[in-house]
Amino acid sequence: MAAGFFISKSVGIVGIVLALGAVATIIALSVVYAQEKNKSSGGGGGSDPTASTTTTTTAPSNAWNRWRLPTALKPESYEVTLQPFLTPDANNMYIFRGSSNVVFVCEEATDLILIHSKKLNYTLQDGFHASLRAVDGPAPPTIVSTWLESTTQYLVVQLSAPLQQGQRYRLYSNFTGELADDLAGFYRSEYTEGNVTRVVATTQMQAPDARKAFPCFDEPAMKAVFTVTIIHPSDHKAISNMPANNTYQVQMDGQSWNVTEFLPTPKMSTYLLAFIVSQFNYVEDNSGGVQIRIWGRPAAIAEGQGEYALEKTGPILSFFERHYNTAYPLPKSDQVGLPDFNAGAMENWGLITYRENSLLYDNAYSSIGNKERVLTVIAHELAHQWFGNLVTLRWWNDLWLNEGFASYVEYLGADSAEPTWDIKDLMVLNELYTVMATDALTTSHPLTFQEDEINTPAQISEVFDSIAYSKGASVLRMLSDFLTEDVFKEGLQSYLHTFAYENTVYTDLWQHLQEAVNNNHVPLPGSISDIMDRWTLQMGFPLVTVNTLTGSIQQRHFLLDPSSTVERPSVFNYTWIVPITWMTPSRTGNRYWLVDVTDTNSNFSVGSSSWLLLNLNVSGYFRVNYNQENWDQLLQQLSNNHKVIPVINRAQIIDDAFSLARAQQVSVVLALNTTRFLSGETAYMPWQAALNNLQYFQLMFDRSEVFGAMTKYIQKQVTPLFEYYKNITNNWSTVPSSLMDQYNEVNAISTACSYGIAECQQLASALFQQWKQNVSNNPITPNLRSAIYCSAVATGGEDAWNFMWERFLEAPVVAEADKLRAALACSTEPWILQRYLQYTIDPTKIRRQDATSTINSIARNVVGQALAWDFIRGNWRTLFTQYGGGSFSFSGLITAVTQRFNTEFELQQLEQFKEDNQDIGFGSGTRALEQALERTRTNINWVKENKDTVHAWFRAETGSS
Ligand SMILES: *[C@@H]1O[C@H](CO)[C@@H](O)[C@H](O)[C@H]1NC(C)=O
Ligand SMILES: *[C@@H]1O[C@H](CO)[C@@H](O)[C@H](O)[C@H]1NC(C)=O
Ligand SMILES: *[C@@H]1O[C@H](CO)[C@@H](O)[C@H](O)[C@H]1NC(C)=O
Ligand SMILES: *[C@@H]1O[C@H](CO)[C@@H](O)[C@H](O)[C@H]1NC(C)=O
Ligand SMILES: [Zn+2]
Repeated sequence: MAAGFFISKSVGIVGIVLALGAVATIIALSVVYAQEKNKSSGGGGGSDPTASTTTTTTAPSNAWNRWRLPTALKPESYEVTLQPFLTPDANNMYIFRGSSNVVFVCEEATDLILIHSKKLNYTLQDGFHASLRAVDGPAPPTIVSTWLESTTQYLVVQLSAPLQQGQRYRLYSNFTGELADDLAGFYRSEYTEGNVTRVVATTQMQAPDARKAFPCFDEPAMKAVFTVTIIHPSDHKAISNMPANNTYQVQMDGQSWNVTEFLPTPKMSTYLLAFIVSQFNYVEDNSGGVQIRIWGRPAAIAEGQGEYALEKTGPILSFFERHYNTAYPLPKSDQVGLPDFNAGAMENWGLITYRENSLLYDNAYSSIGNKERVLTVIAHELAHQWFGNLVTLRWWNDLWLNEGFASYVEYLGADSAEPTWDIKDLMVLNELYTVMATDALTTSHPLTFQEDEINTPAQISEVFDSIAYSKGASVLRMLSDFLTEDVFKEGLQSYLHTFAYENTVYTDLWQHLQEAVNNNHVPLPGSISDIMDRWTLQMGFPLVTVNTLTGSIQQRHFLLDPSSTVERPSVFNYTWIVPITWMTPSRTGNRYWLVDVTDTNSNFSVGSSSWLLLNLNVSGYFRVNYNQENWDQLLQQLSNNHKVIPVINRAQIIDDAFSLARAQQVSVVLALNTTRFLSGETAYMPWQAALNNLQYFQLMFDRSEVFGAMTKYIQKQVTPLFEYYKNITNNWSTVPSSLMDQYNEVNAISTACSYGIAECQQLASALFQQWKQNVSNNPITPNLRSAIYCSAVATGGEDAWNFMWERFLEAPVVAEADKLRAALACSTEPWILQRYLQYTIDPTKIRRQDATSTINSIARNVVGQALAWDFIRGNWRTLFTQYGGGSFSFSGLITAVTQRFNTEFELQQLEQFKEDNQDIGFGSGTRALEQALERTRTNINWVKENKDTVHAWFRAETGSS
């Protein structure tokens, strides 16, 4: 699924009184079942208690009480017919009708058929939910009884005698389901055009919701051929994974309907199916015989919002064809922007679905951040068309390889389409540094799970986290770096050729990479498995410490809270095999491998008057600490001529120093000292690293007296940057040429305005007034809108809020609506924020898909923080039970509302919250809650130990008292 799940990119870009380049963790698909707990009859077995989430396993005695399908039956093909009704029925419910034939082969004799089915009502045939025929063989045993198991989501068919091994059978069923607005399975999305509400029927099958559209063997290894037929109103179009083969009209219930029959798919997994009935339009192109169409609301397509995606899809597809040395496996590629969509995007084979903001781009409204997001999400989803779709991991425990891989190569694909952006560099900030913050907790988890640790839908949902996406991407980038991209590609191509249309486990990839390593004689300190097991089977990462006076080097598990105890055992005792690159002022050395806990390397003994820098371009997934002399030399170099140090490593020095300070490995003064050179720095990456880290200081201190002195310091550092961008943009009238410069211009404005630089606030309010006077002519360039809107709302009271709300309601482009929606959270009026919180659970005001990110924005505001926490506490039951079905990311929500917690009182509240809601549980937010508790404890200690020092440092730097 989408990079979008974890939006680690600066989407729409910061601004915000508070969130300076914060990680906007938006949504996660949270298939959470509120009732599960009540339904489970206890009895244990099956689920591993360490795998968190609600324990839901029932007695294992009956196959239908187990979460995993038996292996006795293997599906081969389905013929599925579905008819969605786009107007409500007599009970005011939207429904669909369907029928399905599945042909399966019996691999082991069994008198039981289990097939997944969720929330479907069946038309009984001779009193049973389904009927059974043999394919080319003797008559099958008769059906004794059929019933639905709603907890484990099965349709169960009990037979009078066993099916015969090697024999094929055909199971027919006829059913109806609700076409709900719950963003899962076959669901409906709505939008208005003119004054008319239009309904779209669309799908989101991943992870286990194909079973909500039709009965199916709903596990990724149960690949089959699907022939889909859609019956739809004749003024609507139907699309699916494959092109249509036939379309004809029929009369049903006195109405004329169109029947669209699609060509059979290749052998594929159920979670990648998709079908959409809509009145959308498209723009079209052709790339090497592959038909490419970008679909969206007719108004959006008419305005040209599909053009950018259309222009880039062909080149990215060709890039991946070369990268994988494999032709695109399907005849066409449709990509659709949907008004309501839970994740960022979904890689359905041949029919990729997106949030509108991740596919549609409009020059007049979209910022460079919006553009980057469109490009990277497209690249991510196209990457899956081979890796994930053609070759599929066998079970969800290996999800990290699927998502980590796509999250890595999306940067390669995007780079091929926009080569001037240097987008690959951004992985360090967007993936490594964001996930390291989580992975340094004792409540983190290894990339890999055992297959039997992941069983229930809630457990499956929970594996879609930042570890899978961002750590997965980071360790694969490291692997590719030490193998070289060419060797990596050779192994990858062989893996894809070997397993096309089949399923794998992650070690299959290691094996093919190993063959490539052997063919190319790549010198390594061990096998791929020897090296990579350390990174995938144990959580966390090493802190590598060098002493440049002696050349000694050592590693240890980096923990944010050094006093915490690691309860999860590791066979490797938390040691790693670490690939290390390095440089000194005069040379760049060869790669060095740290394989032991300690070692000595004479190259690293550079004395006290030179410096050593480890982990060039941060290609390795680890942090670095030095002796004080070397830190002093590095800081000296930054202050004399920072350009001698590569730009990514300038960001690294800042990010490592701050993380080490949080973990009490270096003094907080050292960390703060790394920000001094920024008064002479204009590059984006070091600035962004500093702003990300200072945001932690802001969160810890913006409710304390430290914040006054901190504000003065930031003003002092950002003023030259503000002046620099004012000059190179000709007083904010032109757009800088490079991507990084555009981002840093946004940083300059949002930091200057939110830290109260008068000139910036005046600029914002002048532009805002100009806009108010001529509403149809917005004078603010798209890149700067988030920052300027936020500043205007923060300083403009109710009037400004109402004006922005009106603009939000009528925004013609979702990229614009998103900016306005985030800016509305910048108000400093508690009552306005309180009202805004209420809007988030009213889908007529804020779409369900946007509820979480809106609450998160409010929580990031220092005024909104407490309100959001009260809101979550007060409404947990409602949120959990009513919004549990897909639209709320409980983990993102919990993380956002607790991020400022640093007092004993807040810790108690959090513990109380956990206790009070034990009965309903936390679903996909279970681990996030544990992490929030751990983070709060760390924060309490950190503030206690550092507050006075930090306050004194800021005062000294600004000469204030
Ligand atoms: C099954 O459903 C289809 C509509 O999806 C309907 O036309 C057909 O009559 C039904 N058949 C049976 C046997 O119920
Ligand atoms: C399915 O049956 C249940 C119970 O009778 C009913 O509440 C529900 O509305 C039905 N759903 C559909 C889509 O007909
Ligand atoms: C929408 O409805 C309003 C009020 O009923 C009407 O004035 C307006 O012309 C309508 N707009 C369109 C595009 O139909
Ligand atoms: C396409 O439709 C025709 C006419 O119904 C049918 O004969 C043919 O088998 C279909 N093609 C495929 C590949 O299913
Ligand atoms: Zn993905």
